[in-house]
Amino acid sequence: MSMIQEANCIRRFKRVCGDGWDQGWHERNGGNLTYRMTEEDVKVCMPYFTIKGHEWVDMGVKAPELAGAFFVTTGSGKYMRKVALDTSDCIGIVEINETGDAWRIVWGLTNGGRPTSEFPTHFMNHSVRMKATDGANRVIYHAHTPNIITLSTLIEPDARRYSRILWKSMTECIIIFPEGVGVVPWMVPGGAEIAQATSELMQTYEAVVWTQHGLFCSGSDFDETFGLMHTIEKSAGLYLSARAAQGGSEPAYLIADDELRQVCTAFGVSPNDAFLD
Ligand code: 13P
Ligand code: ZN
Repeated sequence: MSMIQEANCIRRFKRVCGDGWDQGWHERNGGNLTYRMTEEDVKVCMPYFTIKGHEWVDMGVKAPELAGAFFVTTGSGKYMRKVALDTSDCIGIVEINETGDAWRIVWGLTNGGRPTSEFPTHFMNHSVRMKATDGANRVIYHAHTPNIITLSTLIEPDARRYSRILWKSMTECIIIFPEGVGVVPWMVPGGAEIAQATSELMQTYEAVVWTQHGLFCSGSDFDETFGLMHTIEKSAGLYLSARAAQGGSEPAYLIADDELRQVCTAFGVSPNDAFLD
């Protein structure tokens, strides 16, 4: 195994891929993960980089503030289950060009691999979240979370509706995502259009639902991002179980708006008021 695989950023990246697989979020090649590397990460990994034979590839989207950045990314068509087993085939590191609209592979994705087909969405989300958090956010994670997908077959694609359901099904949700979640209506995956729609919502939300597809989450580190995904998915599952137990109708005892406000006061968080009655 190459020593680059011992770098913290690669070890942590692999861990999320395995944890997501264990949760049942990544059938076949479903889902993808990207990480914006720190200067220290780049310094550690640089000795293993090679650009020979790797051309710049246009992304169809542009973010000049990410010019020269390096990202760890899962490969398109690669299985999260296999990231730990065959790391350099399944993931890679890409460099962004000086105009912020093209990538080239500098490590990994051996055997002709390419970054995830959702790289344009990840890239635009990185740009938006980096600006929204003064550079703190570095991780974007997409998973085919089954409960969120099921929920999106039952309710309209409306951010207020989703956020209220998720907050009201488990007490501490409103502390984890006080701004709520954004929702993109059904769209074709993998292109500039869905990238644009998602990144507009990421200006406000750390997590965005893709109707009948899954969830996108952002965060400062791998644990925080995975934890956000896990929390949202779990709350959606609790709501669905309660609704099924109730014969398909709205559960009778969801957390009240006033109780949500009490939680926010106790934990010092400011909720998205537009989503509370
Ligand atoms: P990739 O294999 O290209 O990452 O696509 C998986 C996916 O989930 C697309 O939304
Ligand atoms: Zn997907």
